[in-house]
Amino acid sequence: MRVLGIETSCDETSAAVLSEESGVLSNIVLSQDDVHAPYGGVVPELASRRHIEAIDGVVREALDRAAVDLDAIDLLAVTQGPGLIGSLLVGLSFAKGLAYHTKKPLVGVDHIEAHIDAALLENPGLPFPALALVVSGGHTSLFFLEKPLAYAVLGRTRDDAAGEALDKVAKFLGLGYPGGPVIEKLAEGGKPKAFPFSAPRMSDRSLDFSFSGLKTAALRIIRDNKITKDSRKLADFLASFEEVVARSILENLARALPDHPAKAVLLCGGVARNKRLRAEFEEFAREQKLEFAIPSPKMCTDNAAMVASLGLKKFRAAGAESFALSLEMNAYPRVNTPQG
Ligand code: KG4
Ligand code: ZN
Repeated sequence: MRVLGIETSCDETSAAVLSEESGVLSNIVLSQDDVHAPYGGVVPELASRRHIEAIDGVVREALDRAAVDLDAIDLLAVTQGPGLIGSLLVGLSFAKGLAYHTKKPLVGVDHIEAHIDAALLENPGLPFPALALVVSGGHTSLFFLEKPLAYAVLGRTRDDAAGEALDKVAKFLGLGYPGGPVIEKLAEGGKPKAFPFSAPRMSDRSLDFSFSGLKTAALRIIRDNKITKDSRKLADFLASFEEVVARSILENLARALPDHPAKAVLLCGGVARNKRLRAEFEEFAREQKLEFAIPSPKMCTDNAAMVASLGLKKFRAAGAESFALSLEMNAYPRVNTPQG
């Protein structure tokens, strides 16, 4: 069975071909970083326009690289939400058009659940139950998976996502966009304890995340210490900020474990590319004697292979009749509101 996956939820146009027998045959990702960099963040209207221009070529390239025709595709999978509504609609409408033309089934998948599948795709033998962190520019969530495809949300961010906080601090210092990778590079060699940040803690014992307080604390430290992009203290400051972001993510995971005994832990999403977070997560998993998985850096950021992978699993679990094309199928911008 071959699956064509399509992902356009934010600012990457991506298409991939996944073979059930041979794995990922192609995974084309066209980034829009150059479009949004001058604004220090994603501009939704520009993102959807760029998706419209790019989607046809990206899908063709995914088929070409995989050396298959559209006729050889058995299943279509597309991100339905959450994400930017205009961006989502481009991928969804394109996928509906292909499903209508080819008469193949179309599976809509959730973007955050697809990030988790990036780890499972590369580590198929991972045991369940599992705890999965999805840490990206739009989301910071903790899930408990009793078994494959059974997603229970334990916590979400109440304000900014972790990647968003990194992006905003980088923007404030004029370091460029996206902020996460720039901060990682400039923090190299900095002392992570140089600036005293304290990790946010929920007063109601919930497993939700919050990063807006940390962002505000960071902006105050920048002002009080007159930190600029050229100052000598920059590496220490960025290392300290990176460290507290990593610590607050892992503290939630540690607090979830006693009530949710997992055999494996997963770290997914764009921020999971971060070397400090990866190292601290790995250390935590080893200390707890848990199996663990972090996708390869390319599979951490938005890509369509993870969409195809989850689409195939949902199809196998529910059967073809559940995924006959419905023109009612709609995109959903916010978490947990699938429709159609
Ligand atoms: O998952 P993703 O590609 O898109 C969303 O679904 O949001 O994540 C993008 C986020 C951005 O905030 C970016 O700054 C962050 O991931 N990011 C990183 C690194 N690479 C990307 N954050 C920290 N360190 C990195 N190396
Ligand atoms: Zn994402």
